[in-house]
Amino acid sequence: MRRRLLDYLACASLSAFLAGEPAWAQSPDAEASSYTPTVGQVGKDVVWVPTPQDLVDTMLDMAELKPGDKLVDLGAGDGRTVISAAKRGITARGIEYNPELVTLAQRAAKQEGVADRASFEQADIFESDFSEATVVTLFLLPRLNMRLRPTLLDMPPGTRVISNSFTMEDWTPDETRKVNEDCTGRCIAYKWVVPAKVAGTWNMDGKELVLAQTFQQLEGELRDGDRSMPLSDARMDGEKVAFDMNGQHYEGEVRGDEMRGTVDGKQAWRAQRVSSSG
Ligand SMILES: C[S@@+](CC[C@H](N)C(=O)[O-])C[C@H]1O[C@@H](n2cnc3c(N)ncnc32)[C@H](O)[C@@H]1O
Repeated sequence: MRRRLLDYLACASLSAFLAGEPAWAQSPDAEASSYTPTVGQVGKDVVWVPTPQDLVDTMLDMAELKPGDKLVDLGAGDGRTVISAAKRGITARGIEYNPELVTLAQRAAKQEGVADRASFEQADIFESDFSEATVVTLFLLPRLNMRLRPTLLDMPPGTRVISNSFTMEDWTPDETRKVNEDCTGRCIAYKWVVPAKVAGTWNMDGKELVLAQTFQQLEGELRDGDRSMPLSDARMDGEKVAFDMNGQHYEGEVRGDEMRGTVDGKQAWRAQRVSSSG
């Protein structure tokens, strides 16, 4: 009951805030079709409310798109995020349950000249495989983000996840941006970078590096017999690991069962995985 009320309030405020928002639906080509979506119309798990274009642009800036990236928008609506990503030169795919929105988005992609890079399919995001994505965008609901969270956390390290408005609860964002400082609603984007899984014990030059991991945050110590040295400011950024120990700054990269890097940007360090935990 309480969850339904929260969903209702989230949807109602989305609809109210964005009423009158121009959509791809109003482009000349779309006008020629008989279908015009309505902001707030019912969707399978969440209503359709389009992301304002300035926030789409901000989300794509946050994604730091590079050649070869593949973006997937979960619940793609009228296709604006996918089309905007394709216009930046990458391959993008939209998964949308409503077949009429899918047709509308396909038509808009053609009209915008990016149909070769922007594709749309009618499907349920919870039944779909989007494991090829290097960037996942979302504008759903808090509880839907939480349903997707385990899948997202199992994607390859470095995958960027960008959500309009809604968080991932205790998986704190790596970056938050507002489209402008005065805005009060539906103008915030959150970004997470899927961290490599490093919890467990590693062999670092014959010593035991023991790491505990909560999403991108790390805690740990280096054990040498009955002596131990704590790590501080330890964290993951995708496959990159960084921590301070004994007054020195360690940076490195995780590749499978090995991590290697430099201490204070100079001498090399490396560690090999002995066992995993968590
Ligand atoms: C809030 S709108 C966001 C649309 C678009 N991503 C954007 O940012 O403009 C959410 C979209 O998800 C779609 N949707 C809802 N449940 C879905 C599901 N289970 N699978 C696929 N699409 C779904 C709705 O039809 C709607 O178009």
